[in-house]
Amino acid sequence: MAELAGSATHLRHGSSIGQPLTRRDGLLKVTGQARYAADNHPPGMLHAALAVSSIARGRVTGLDVEAARAHPGVVAVMTPANRPALALHPDDKASPFVFRMDLLQDDMVRYAGQPIAVVIGETLEAATEGAALLAPRYAAEPARTGLDEGEVFIPPMVGIGAPSEVRHGDVEAGLAAAAARIEAVYETPAQYHNAMEPHAIVAAWEGDRLSIDTPSQGLTWARDRIAGLFGIAVEDIEIRSPFLGGGFGSKGLIAGPQVLGILAARLVGRPVKLVLRREQMYGPVGHRAPTRQTLRLGADAAGGLTAIQHHVRTASSSFDDFFEPAGGVTHTLYASPAIVTTSDAVRLDTGTPMFMRAPGEASGSIALEGAIDEMAAACGMDPLEFRLRNYAEVEPTTGKPFSSKALRECYAQGAARFGWAGRPLAPRQMRDADGLLVGWGVGTATFPALMFQGQARAVLRADGSGVVEIGAQDMGQGAWTALAQIAADSLGLGIDQVEFRAGHSGLPDAGIAGGSAHTATAGMAIHGAGADAIARLAELAMADGRSPLFGAGNAGVVAREGRLLRRDDESRGETYAEILARAGLGEIEGRGTGAMDPAAQEHYAMHAHGAVFAEVKVDPELGQIRATRLVGAFAAGRIINPRMVQSQYYGGMIWGVSFALHEAAVVDPRSGRVMNANLGEYHVPVNADLPSLEAILVEEVDPHVNALGIKGVGEIGVTGSAGAVANAVWHATGVRVRRFPIAVEAVAGLAG
Ligand code: MOS
Repeated sequence: MAELAGSATHLRHGSSIGQPLTRRDGLLKVTGQARYAADNHPPGMLHAALAVSSIARGRVTGLDVEAARAHPGVVAVMTPANRPALALHPDDKASPFVFRMDLLQDDMVRYAGQPIAVVIGETLEAATEGAALLAPRYAAEPARTGLDEGEVFIPPMVGIGAPSEVRHGDVEAGLAAAAARIEAVYETPAQYHNAMEPHAIVAAWEGDRLSIDTPSQGLTWARDRIAGLFGIAVEDIEIRSPFLGGGFGSKGLIAGPQVLGILAARLVGRPVKLVLRREQMYGPVGHRAPTRQTLRLGADAAGGLTAIQHHVRTASSSFDDFFEPAGGVTHTLYASPAIVTTSDAVRLDTGTPMFMRAPGEASGSIALEGAIDEMAAACGMDPLEFRLRNYAEVEPTTGKPFSSKALRECYAQGAARFGWAGRPLAPRQMRDADGLLVGWGVGTATFPALMFQGQARAVLRADGSGVVEIGAQDMGQGAWTALAQIAADSLGLGIDQVEFRAGHSGLPDAGIAGGSAHTATAGMAIHGAGADAIARLAELAMADGRSPLFGAGNAGVVAREGRLLRRDDESRGETYAEILARAGLGEIEGRGTGAMDPAAQEHYAMHAHGAVFAEVKVDPELGQIRATRLVGAFAAGRIINPRMVQSQYYGGMIWGVSFALHEAAVVDPRSGRVMNANLGEYHVPVNADLPSLEAILVEEVDPHVNALGIKGVGEIGVTGSAGAVANAVWHATGVRVRRFPIAVEAVAGLAG
């Protein structure tokens, strides 16, 4: 395939890594055989329905429990009065990765959409109708809903553990010395994850043993959290999560409603299924917090940045801490002698914000890329030329070299493919044949190359085949395929000779499928486990006088196509099966761990990069905006499967279009309710909204980030893309819109 050619250099002979394999779970999915959590119906299962609060702050003063219980088919109503006991208070917070939950611990209401009761019935209809009969009464207090409401404070940290203030150089001096300056305030709205598959759980207790089907981006973390809440051993919990219909961060940690499903099963002593309705996903399962970002930039007469100041106002809930780390991209992206990022926040009556699709980077990037575009215009420079003029050769705030950075190649390849060279400098110069205003914009993409901790187990069996086990997650990104490719290579086998097992909490801990770190983390664990199994097998052979590998010693062996070969003479070797048979072994096992290398982390800045070019068309009278063309060029280290990676980039670029033009939760300032808590009015792009998309896979070899050279591709696509679209709207219209999503009103009435 022509569009995959960019990765052809990653191919090695006989290697699965680098092959553009189609999804190994694809057939199961398109034929409906893939079993998602809510597809499970254990014998005797009941259905649970949540009742949620319609106020955002106050107390529940009454529920008509009797009316609900009397409804035909209703089995039980769970309220704070009869909810089974927990071993931990849901508001205990042992680490920044533990989030407080609403588990019917009291009558307090902390946000609209908070669970206030659970009705369990023989059928979904009975449970749902029962929940509607509860007719809650409230003592309501005024809701705090906006970034100007409530007391402003400086959060102790942003994201997970990042400082809320970073200072490098003297920004005031840099601004004072500048030949040109801009100051701009960008606003981004609250957004909700809106995965296709809602949060769902089927929970069954057998005594103190718990069996669960639920979509999870992090099985071990979920299992450990549940064990803590219920005071049971992790060995007594089994979670199955083979397929997720998207997660986007909202399934990274187990959420309150899932725990309520487990509590409901405990209450009634039967298996219970609880599936959130779409509108119930606008509250207890996280969202992206709104931001207001103030940027001040200065540049000298030659267009070199002299200062970047980036202040972020964001919000968390009234009862927990997660602060959108939107300043992060500014630390790394453009060279400047002075860079300062600061954050403050207010507490709102909402559910707690959470990681969502490049948390921090997405909202920070759209603001920074807009401000950079404004600065380029103030300098009279082409925005791509301006970005190259301020290219960061080392990470500006730390002075560390990059472990690898092929961003220049991304700019060059993306610009060539897009046809950027013909772009008029001034805005509002281009029209299409229908009279629509046409604009072109660019944005730089960046995302950190992270790793969590993971483990894997690899087994070579007597028949020469392999098994690789890891509690990894496929939330749609292609882990069933990409990780199996790494597994095959790690054992020197073809992909069809390796049984790849994932998606189950009984398997080795794979960390979390988040932070775009899953392929690197799980992949390195698998790589290590396979290498360990091969090393043990080689030891057997090299110590055995009957083996052609006997005495290979220091020269060592290589594993290829089910055989071990002497490295110094590849004509001498034997099959895995022969070695195991002679040793009288049924199998041989290896273990591996994947984790960030602290030494590499100390010495290098590690990020993926990219450049995104966008074309939009704007109706000059109506202000209707359409993104028509997007070209992204990304460099993210070694590409395990170019087809999956391209799909990840497309997904990210679609989020970018969505961020710039579509997505926003609209909160009613009187009630604190999200007024568009449905997929009809919370706009996400559909096919008709999407431009022609191209993603170029720019070659990049990273010798430091991990032994496989993997940086991660899941979230980078949204960064750069959102800014490119917004900058293209300016170029089409001459109107700089700094509030997202860009409303038609902001650019309407430009005809004439
Ligand atoms: Mo992602 S927001 O790290 O699941």
